[in-house]
Amino acid sequence: MKRLVILISGRGSNMEAIVQACAAEGWPATVAAVVSNRPDAAGLAFAAARGIATAVVDHKAYGSREAFDAELARVVDGFSPDLVVLAGFMRILTPGFTARYARRMLNIHPSLLPAFTGLHTHERALAMGCKVAGVTVHFVTAELDHGAIVMQAVVPVQPGDDAQALAARVLAAEHRIYPQSVRWCVEDALAWDGDAVVHHRGGAPQQLLLD
Ligand code: GRF
Repeated sequence: MKRLVILISGRGSNMEAIVQACAAEGWPATVAAVVSNRPDAAGLAFAAARGIATAVVDHKAYGSREAFDAELARVVDGFSPDLVVLAGFMRILTPGFTARYARRMLNIHPSLLPAFTGLHTHERALAMGCKVAGVTVHFVTAELDHGAIVMQAVVPVQPGDDAQALAARVLAAEHRIYPQSVRWCVEDALAWDGDAVVHHRGGAPQQLLLD
C-alpha cells in the first residue's frame, strides 16, 4: 500500500475528491494524513471525520520559510509518505523542501501551465481574452508552478464568464484529473522520459477536453 500525505490550506475539495476516489476505487493506497498550514482549514474536519490523521503546522509560528519547511518536513516524514499531494496548499516551498520530495510530490494549479503561474489565474485569463482555460497536475520542482506535467484538462471560456464562473468550471475538471493523476502514481503507471512524464501502461490520455 502506498502512503499518501495530502497538504491543504483551506476548503480541501481536491483532497476530498482524492480521499473518496481512493476508497471507492480501491486504490493500492491509503491516505496516511492530511496536513494544513492553517488551523482553520475547513478540509481538516472532513479528514478527521473519515478517521484520517490530521496535523497543523501553522506558518505564522515560524520566522522564515526555511524554519517552517523544516518543521513541515518533520511532520510529513512522520507519516512516511510515498507521495506528497499538494491540494490547494498555498505556501511557496523552499528548494530544500522540493528537493526532499523530488519526483514524489504533486501539485494542482488552476491554469494551463506554463501560462498563468501564481495567483488569480482566472482573472488573468479573462483579462487576456483567453478562449479556453483549464487545470494542470504536475510534479513539484523548486520553480513555482513548474515541473513535469502529469495531466491537463481544458475547459471553454464562455461568453459572460466572470472569475467565479470560470473557477467553478475549472474546479469540476480538477476533481476529475487530480484523483486520476494520483491513482496513476500509486499504481506506478507513470514513467519519466527525461524531464517529462508519460503514462506507460496502455498510453492513457493525459488530456481531458471538456465542452
Ligand atoms: C484549487 O483551485 C486548486 O487548483 C488551487 O487552489 C484551489 C484549492 O481548492 N491550487 P480546494 O482547497 O482543493 O477546494
